[in-house]
Amino acid sequence: MLILGRMSGAVLESVLGAIGDTPLVELRRLHPGPGRILAKLDYLNPGGSKKDRVALRMLDEAAADGRLVPGQTVVELTSGNTGTGLAIVCAVRGHPFVAVMSRGNSDERAAMMQALGAEVVLVDQAPGAARGHVSGDDLARVEEVAAALTVERQAFRADQFQLGGNARAHEDGTGEELWRQSGGAIDAFCEFVGTGGTLAGVARALKAHGPGIACYAVDPSQPDHRIQGGGYSMPELPLLDPALVDGRLTVTDDDAIATARRLARLEGIFAGFSAGANVAAAERLLAGPHRGQTVAVVLADTGLKYLTTDLWA
Ligand SMILES: Cc1ncc(COP(=O)(O)O)c(C=O)c1O
Repeated sequence: MLILGRMSGAVLESVLGAIGDTPLVELRRLHPGPGRILAKLDYLNPGGSKKDRVALRMLDEAAADGRLVPGQTVVELTSGNTGTGLAIVCAVRGHPFVAVMSRGNSDERAAMMQALGAEVVLVDQAPGAARGHVSGDDLARVEEVAAALTVERQAFRADQFQLGGNARAHEDGTGEELWRQSGGAIDAFCEFVGTGGTLAGVARALKAHGPGIACYAVDPSQPDHRIQGGGYSMPELPLLDPALVDGRLTVTDDDAIATARRLARLEGIFAGFSAGANVAAAERLLAGPHRGQTVAVVLADTGLKYLTTDLWA
């Protein structure tokens, strides 16, 4: 397994060494107080999202126990971020990679994966669905295609909804980094849920250090929403033990968008819809049960992934 070394200053053996160890910034301009929001800049990973961590960990674990062999094709269902991470790891390690994605996700994502050498298979959305709004139904269609391609290509399925490496990447990585960088000064954490891997992993790490640290799931306020990367209304998530979740908050599209724009203008932080959702949820926690305390969030991906959407319009 790789030692992650972004901050070490050493010459890295490959770009994979630049995954993780992202900076933690206090959002003082956006939230002058009372209380603090600490934001982990995971959009600074090589693929522009926190999913680089997950891609690397899933393939490391599979290679270590023989589920993935040299030269084998890798397939995954993705809203684009995990696919970009996998495309990067596969490029470095020499695996062909097939990304299966809904047509509802933004074009930048497909273009970036293709540039990294991936084959991108786009799946039509359910009848009546709008672009930018990816539903659980749309995802079920993508799953069907990904499963069939895995059999056809005798591929390794890097299934981010099922593989424990997803949550472990955030437990040993994101969560431990949050604890260390903040000097253990975190009272609450909130996270927009897709696979639930980030919330599960970070909650496990933080609660191991401080069992009283409250961990919240962030959901869209309605099933038909524009916050890409999650909010699929799935009945259960294999990676997310409900016992780790102390509460749930909902965020509207408008709140997520307005907050992502404030992040850009006030903090110089150019991140995506879900980053806006997380910061909006953190502000609500600071106005309510966590007044005067410290709330941590992860900013999942870069705003560059949404230039063709109305996020910046
Ligand atoms: C932009 C973005 N935000 C949030 C999430 C949700 O993260 P997780 O799958 O760890 O729940 C994802 C997942 O793909 C994402 O791409």
